[in-house]
Amino acid sequence: MNEYDSELVKSILIDNQFELTTREEEAEVIFLNTCAIRENAHSKIYARLGDLKKYRKSKKDKVVVGLLGCMSQNLRGELNRNENLVDIFAGPDSYKRLPAMIHSVSQNGKKEYDFSLSEFEDYSDVYPKRIPGVNAWIAVMRGCDNFCTFCVVPYTRGRERSRTIKSVVDESRQLAVDGFKQVTLLGQNVNSYKSEGDDFADLMQAVAEVDGIERVRFTSPHPKDFPDKFLKIMAENPKICSHIHLPLQAGNDRVLEMMARTYTRKNFLKLVEQIRKTDPDVALTTDIIVGFPTESDADFEDTIEVMNEVQFDAAFTFKYSERKNTIAWRTQPDDVPEEKKTERIVRLVELQRNHSLIRNQAKLGQTLETLIEGPSKRKPDEWMGRTDGNKIVILPKGSFQPGDMVMVKITDVTANTLFGDAILTSGNEANEAKI
Ligand code: 5AD
Ligand code: SF4
Repeated sequence: MNEYDSELVKSILIDNQFELTTREEEAEVIFLNTCAIRENAHSKIYARLGDLKKYRKSKKDKVVVGLLGCMSQNLRGELNRNENLVDIFAGPDSYKRLPAMIHSVSQNGKKEYDFSLSEFEDYSDVYPKRIPGVNAWIAVMRGCDNFCTFCVVPYTRGRERSRTIKSVVDESRQLAVDGFKQVTLLGQNVNSYKSEGDDFADLMQAVAEVDGIERVRFTSPHPKDFPDKFLKIMAENPKICSHIHLPLQAGNDRVLEMMARTYTRKNFLKLVEQIRKTDPDVALTTDIIVGFPTESDADFEDTIEVMNEVQFDAAFTFKYSERKNTIAWRTQPDDVPEEKKTERIVRLVELQRNHSLIRNQAKLGQTLETLIEGPSKRKPDEWMGRTDGNKIVILPKGSFQPGDMVMVKITDVTANTLFGDAILTSGNEANEAKI
């Protein structure tokens, strides 16, 4: 979402006669787009501001520095009191005011702030300045009304609001014209999308109908909003990728209740069963937090149990990080010792590696449709692509190009990656000349 927001900011600035540069020494204005989700996101920004301090000095303070996004929104006055390092503070709903804020700082040297959160701002009138390629993101809804007790997002990004289907479809059409093949629909709570009587299933279906867009993905949903209608549309529509990121957070009912996740372990497992019944090949990934306040060793074992039952394809695991202003911050001391958190996360990572390997081994010998994204990072003379289930595939380049959809026979796997060769199948003759 932050990358997407940076694309919005670039577009707003370009429309106001600013030019972009990737060379810091040329810049007259520098923005840091910040995240507040965990403390390590904050730490990175503090370190970066430290670097910028020297830079500003060398420029005799003639460079405008702006702090955008969630950290700015959440720490407001605190950051400002800190030091004379930042000229502009703007939360996620204030980006349209940035050009005026820059002019004002340049003219009168006074700091500018805007932390207003809007119930309406959805930036649907801004076409983000994207780097050309295969994948594009569209934020279809912003904000979150769930107030999970550990999470700062409802405070930094404000209330939920959705764009209309028409505006998302129009943007997707333009993306297809611009050469993008895959669209990922984004939202903090994406499947609670609601607009003019349409729900998330209607939206996914409408985007999947756009010619030229070959794959549609979404992230990040909440397990509470998966009606059968949505699962059915997903299973029936080949363009909607067979991958659901389903954040579990914890496997113990007491902890889940304290987190205000609104489901029990049983509900979660039932949903997984329902999803797999509708689409047996679906890839499931998750987010898990270890060391939420009061989480005991026995509570943690419940998380391990759920992981063993589900066997996710991948998991993002986090140590609980106390966030200012959240309900947990107000009501619960962060009482699980750091060593315990480390011990638990090490176990989760290890277990997940085994599960990812097992899930990937099941793909050996299968032929999977792969969208080529670009050169492999490790071996630039090979291509990296992704399967429908979002698994990374490495294959020989042949004469394929990024954006090509290729049938790949999987010949080797690790926990993180599939390896294979492009093959010719009926209906895929285009591959023949390119292998
Ligand atoms: N501490 C640790 N992890 C968190 N997440 C959100 N807030 C916190 C926090 N305070 C994780 C959740 C969420 C993911 C995006 O970040 O697992 O799903
Ligand atoms: Fe945060 Fe996601 Fe919960 Fe919203 S649904 S409060 S974004 S964890």
